[in-house]
Formats: sequence, C-alpha cells, structure tokens
Amino acid sequence: MAATPFYITTAIAYVNGLPHLGHAYEAILTDVMARFQRLDGKDVMFLTGTDEHGEKVAKTAEKNNIAPKEFANINAAAFEAMDKALNISYDDFIRTTEPRHYAASQAIWKKLLEKGDIYLGKYEGWYSVREEAYFGEDELTKNEKGQMITPHGTEAEWVVEPSYFFKLSAYRDKLLAYYKAHPEFIQPGTRRNEIVSFVAQEGGLRDISVSRHKSRLKWGIPVPGDEGHVMYVWLDALTNYITGVGYPDEGKDSFKKYWPADFHVIGKDIIRFHAIYWPAFLMSADITIPKTIFAHGFINVQGEKMSKSIGNVLAPADLIKTFGLDQFRYFLMREIPHGEDGNFSPEQAVQRINADLANGLGNLMQRTLSFIYKNCDAKIPEAKSLNATDEALLANARGLTLSDMKQSVKIFRFNDALSTLWKLVADANAYIDAQAPWALKKTDTERMNTVLYVLTDVIRCLAILVQPYTPESAAKMLDQLKVPTNERNFVHLDEKYKIKHGTIIDQPVGIFPRLNLDAEEAA
Ligand code: MSP
Repeated sequence: MAATPFYITTAIAYVNGLPHLGHAYEAILTDVMARFQRLDGKDVMFLTGTDEHGEKVAKTAEKNNIAPKEFANINAAAFEAMDKALNISYDDFIRTTEPRHYAASQAIWKKLLEKGDIYLGKYEGWYSVREEAYFGEDELTKNEKGQMITPHGTEAEWVVEPSYFFKLSAYRDKLLAYYKAHPEFIQPGTRRNEIVSFVAQEGGLRDISVSRHKSRLKWGIPVPGDEGHVMYVWLDALTNYITGVGYPDEGKDSFKKYWPADFHVIGKDIIRFHAIYWPAFLMSADITIPKTIFAHGFINVQGEKMSKSIGNVLAPADLIKTFGLDQFRYFLMREIPHGEDGNFSPEQAVQRINADLANGLGNLMQRTLSFIYKNCDAKIPEAKSLNATDEALLANARGLTLSDMKQSVKIFRFNDALSTLWKLVADANAYIDAQAPWALKKTDTERMNTVLYVLTDVIRCLAILVQPYTPESAAKMLDQLKVPTNERNFVHLDEKYKIKHGTIIDQPVGIFPRLNLDAEEAA
C-alpha cells in the first residue's frame, strides 16, 4: 500500500534581513512534525524557502547600494545555511525569484482574472512597507511625531496609485461557511475565533489591492498582460505553497499527491494573510484549500520582543555554538507552550538542558551502557524471565508512550509530547536505581542480566522516540546500540520487535555533556 502523503510548509522568510531565533523556532517546529510523520510511515513533503520580492526588500537593497536580486541571493543563502545548521530536513527550498514560481504566480493571477475577481481601480490609502500590508484609518494610531502607526507598531504611509484589486469582499460568506464546516482549518482555536470574528464583522473584508504600479515598485512578478504593474508580494508569496508541488501543472504527480497541504506553519502575525486571503484566492482559482493553518506564538528574549534597537536579536548560529544543536532544538520544543508566546532565557536553557538531557536521558544511557561494557564483555545480556515490573516498563516504552505522544504531536503540542517522553526517562532511571544491577552483580547475575536487557530495550525505544527533536544525538544513541537504520521507525516500537541480546556495543561515549556556562557566556 502506498504511504499516506503528508505535505507541510513553513512561512517563507523575507530576505531583507538575516535569520534570527524566531525563524529558527519556526523551522525546528516544522521539522519536528515532518520527522515525526516520516517515522510514522508517511510520505512527507516539507517545503521551506524565501520571500524575495516586495517593497521592503527593494528598499533595503537600495539602502545597501546593491541590486535586489543580488541582495536576495546573499540573504537567501543565509537562510538556507541556517536550515542546514539546524538540521532541518526540508525536501525543497523555494525562492520566489525562481522561474517556476513566476510561472505559478502568473498562472494563478490569470485564474483570478478569468473568474472576474480582479479589476483595475485606484488605490489610495495607508500602507505599511515593513508589513507589506494595507490598513484602514481606523486601525491606525498617531505617534508623537504625527506618523501613522499600525497595530503591530510599524509606520504606515499614504499611497495613491492605479492598482488591480481582488474582490475579497465577495468571499466573506464563503469564508465564514468554510470556517464553520472546517473547524480544524485554523489552529489553535483562539486564533480561529479571532479570524472568524474579524471576517464576520460588517464591512470586515474590503477588496484588496493586488498590484503595484511600476512607477513605485519594479521589484516583483510582472502582472500578466499589463507590464505596467507588478504583483502584490503577498499574492506572490502565498502562491509558493503550490509552486512547490508543481503548480500550474495540476496534473503533475507531486501536485496530485501532496495538495492540499496538511499544514502551513506560520507565526501569529501573518495569520490574516493565510486564513483569509489565501483561501479566498484558492476558492477563486478553484484550487482545494489546505487542511490546517497552524499559527505559533512569538519568541521573546529575556522577556522582551527581539529588536535591532534593543540589540537582543539572537542569531541561530551563535545559539547552536553555545548550547549545542540538539540541546537548542530540545529546549525550544520543550519549553514553549503550544501556540503561545515563549521566552528565551540562557539561564533557563542551561538548567533545562542539564536536567533533562545531561542528567536525565544522557545519564541513563551512560550508566547502563558503561555497566554492560565493563561487566558483560560489552555484550547486551539476555533476559531469561521478565517480572511484572519489567513488563510494565517495556509496555510503556514500546507502545503506550508513542500513542500518548501521537495525540500531542498531532496538534503541535510538542512540549506535552516531550514531558510524556521524559516520564519514561524518569521511570527508567527509577528502575535502574531500584533494581540496582551493581548490587545484583554479586547476588543474582541472571536477574542483573534481565534488568540490563530491559534497560537497553527501553533506551532503544527512547532513542527512536526522541529522533524528531534531537536527530543527531538520537542517531548516536542508536548507533551505540547497533540498531540497524531501517529499524529506527515507529513500527519498531511494536512489542514484536526487541533489541537483540548478544549484540556487542562500542565503548560508550557521552551524548549530552553538562553545560557549564556563566551567564555572560550564555547571553
Ligand atoms: N515573508 C513573510 C511570510 C510569507 S509566507 C507566504 C514573512 N516573513 S518573515 O521573515 O517576517 O517571517 C517568517 C516567519 O517567521 C513568520 O511565520 C513569522 O511569524 C516568524 N517569526 C518572525 N519573528 C518571530 C519571532 N520572534 N518568534 C517566532 N516566530 C517569528 O512574514
């Protein structure tokens, strides 16, 4: 039977700046889901990339005295390097400046036009370059300098230009009906409620300008049939999700297999574009709507929003260097609650990493394997008979933990999934303390062997389960236990699979060193 397809995407990052902790968080969150689904036997397609057009990129490039495409090349490479450094298992990295994306964006434009949903008008209004978004006067406030400021704190300017419009207002009822029929479309539920009430309000949906006149902006995808305009960057950017699977060729295998996407993973600041504009564009183009938009929260640093002016923007590469890659990934996934904002504090990271990884999982592995290495000729011993305690721990490791974790992972509750997994780590550590193989060595070697066997099998299961979060370290654990690579998926947590006794292990090496950072170093 063919594996079930699973298509997941991140937002594509603007290339006007370098990657920071927030981008890293989103990439890791998406990667954990992709890895989890692969281990669960799905045929996963994971798309990420960069959003390269628009006024914001054009203006920053100009400030740097460099052509927008060259500027985009430099920063797109930085985002791809971040993904590599974070061990993000993406299948495709899309850049919106690629020819395939021009083709897809122009094709969707034509579809909207044929539907009669695009018309030429004149745009006059407030526009934030930073957010690439329009605002009604009622949404803005004036700051002390008299500038108009958006709810997200950026400056809006007054623009007047001929522009094409998309008839978003015509989709209000269809969107509301869609939200009602598909309660899982916007997650978490709090975000869903926000969107539904926004769309439901009288006059909530105005038609949106979907082009820029070339006299003001040249850096974009030309509007088909009217070279005087380029496409609005959000129509271009959202389309990346279908370009990535082969649009406009809707008959292509990858499109038929992966579309509609299972998840678009995005931050809470861009939910309106994804939960209102995107489904409306797709309805207009007669393309199926993705299954779920999952909006995560924002990461603050030491309790404050990251910002260049505060100087607290953290670079992923520095964080990996300070904490270790898997330690950093683990901390973010363990600490930040589902869909909520989170805080990054180096002290908390050190504490969590030492408690859970060095002392918890690392120590369990180290003391079990060192004991076997020294006392059992490096051979995984045989269990002659299991008692109820052994059986209970194994049952927990083999199947129960996985089914619990699946419930949490399904909706991105990774912090809950990890706390479930760490209950097993604690149980296994309590088991080794209570069974005390070092004492059994003198009194009952058969029982000692059983205990060690149970422990190695539990460690095997733990390592399989932790792979999505700490892939490199989990691989090292499984390598040390000599588990073949094709036996590292969730099927092998079934009770009919066990670790093989008699397997010779290598001399154990510590996987998660204790961190000893002073506060200054950590910051
Ligand atoms: N280019 C648009 C997305 C287009 S998707 C069709 C964009 N780019 S961005 O670079 O500003 O943001 C990329 C992603 O990073 C977004 O999902 C955004 O919410 C997320 N984050 C940016 N800062 C963040 C934090 N401080 N914390 C968590 N995520 C954050 O928006």
